[in-house]
Amino acid sequence: MDKFVVKGGVPLHGEIATGGAKNSALPALAATLLTDEPVLLQRIPRVRDVRTMQRLLVDIGASADVDGESVRIQVREVRSPEAPYELVKTMRASSLVLGPLVARAGRARVSLPGGCAIGARPINLHLVGLEQLGAQIQQAHGYVEAVAPQGLRGTTIRFERITVTGTEDLMMAAVLARGTTILENAAREPEVTDLTALLVKMGAKIEGAGTSTVRIEGVARLHGAEHAIIPDRIEAGTFLVAGAITGGDLTVTGCLPEHNAALITKLQAAGAEITEVDGSTLRVRAARGLRSADVTTAEYPGFPTDLQAQYIALMTQAEGIAIITETIFENRFMHAQELARMGANIRLEGNQAIVAGRKELTGAGVIASDLRASASLVLAALVARGETVIDRVYHIDRGYEKIEGKLAAVGAQIRRI
Ligand code: EPU
Repeated sequence: MDKFVVKGGVPLHGEIATGGAKNSALPALAATLLTDEPVLLQRIPRVRDVRTMQRLLVDIGASADVDGESVRIQVREVRSPEAPYELVKTMRASSLVLGPLVARAGRARVSLPGGCAIGARPINLHLVGLEQLGAQIQQAHGYVEAVAPQGLRGTTIRFERITVTGTEDLMMAAVLARGTTILENAAREPEVTDLTALLVKMGAKIEGAGTSTVRIEGVARLHGAEHAIIPDRIEAGTFLVAGAITGGDLTVTGCLPEHNAALITKLQAAGAEITEVDGSTLRVRAARGLRSADVTTAEYPGFPTDLQAQYIALMTQAEGIAIITETIFENRFMHAQELARMGANIRLEGNQAIVAGRKELTGAGVIASDLRASASLVLAALVARGETVIDRVYHIDRGYEKIEGKLAAVGAQIRRI
């Protein structure tokens, strides 16, 4: 199993580029199931979850031609409308094929995801919504089977709580349903808006994406399209924290600053200097030391849960006490114990982490437990005295493309073994 070996203490300097958003690429790939024509997707990050989704599409019947950051997918025919356990257990976002398969083929069989390192993560809201659209749902042998022999019909669906992939899944089901679907309490994440942009290019009729009420007028068929995925706001955010935590001067290119507004506000409150160089470039400097600032995670446009672990690493280096409250997932503090092994002072109380800084971190052997927790360990290792060995970095490869190469190019002493 791959590991990272990191020698801390080097402030990062220079330019670092953001890739395409993993959490936008995944629903965009699933959306290619909605048409028999080719869909060309650009700025696709070469990360493991994307490869898994492509494999799933090929199993279902797609042809996929990858050319650098572009992929051309064509699903002439749905041969097997199924997402097997082997794929779903490594990537929960596989449930994103449920909506499009029922819409296109009238049938889907998708393995139930089960729990994961950050919480229970059920898909009940996807299923309730599909039922409201007219699908019949059965669960047996660890699989969900959804059938809609007469096709789906539009209706009003109110999400009990905000769900990102749930919103995306039902949008993809509703675009081919008869009549109008209204999604209330929908997710407003930029990734939902990006999926909408692709679907509209494919001929879908959608209004209100990016707000909590989305209105979808079903159409009889969709066609091929070309679409470039938005930049990854979580990767860009991770780099901003890397610049700040090392006291460096880092320019993050190819990002969309407005998508990171919540993080930028917190970094500024913590004493980092952030300048918007232009509409796609941010510069972070933190030469004068950091101070604590509390954070509560929330749905977009709030502070993203996907940056909570990285922010906790930052707060170990800030003067004072920071209270980090996690409201999206019930068990997303696995990094806290590992950071404590490096010398951090973190107390967990229910859904809060209380971080007392500033603490000098020292290199240690640590284990990555999930994608963003791994990123947080890398960030801590960048400032720790001595050498940190991070085990199970396959987690980080799920969502960051060659992170060690990008960080090494701006001065980090990091290598993969
Ligand atoms: N929830 C339910 N029932 C459902 C769906 C969700 O109870 O049917 C709960 C979840 O358990 C959670 C909350 O609702 O407590 C929000 O979950 P959501 O459905 O929004 O999460 P998701 O769609 O499964 C996406 C991202 C995650 C990100 C979350 C929250 C993708 C592929 N994944 O997951 O990304 O943390 O939204 O923003 O878009 C990551 O990239 O590291 C990652 C975990």
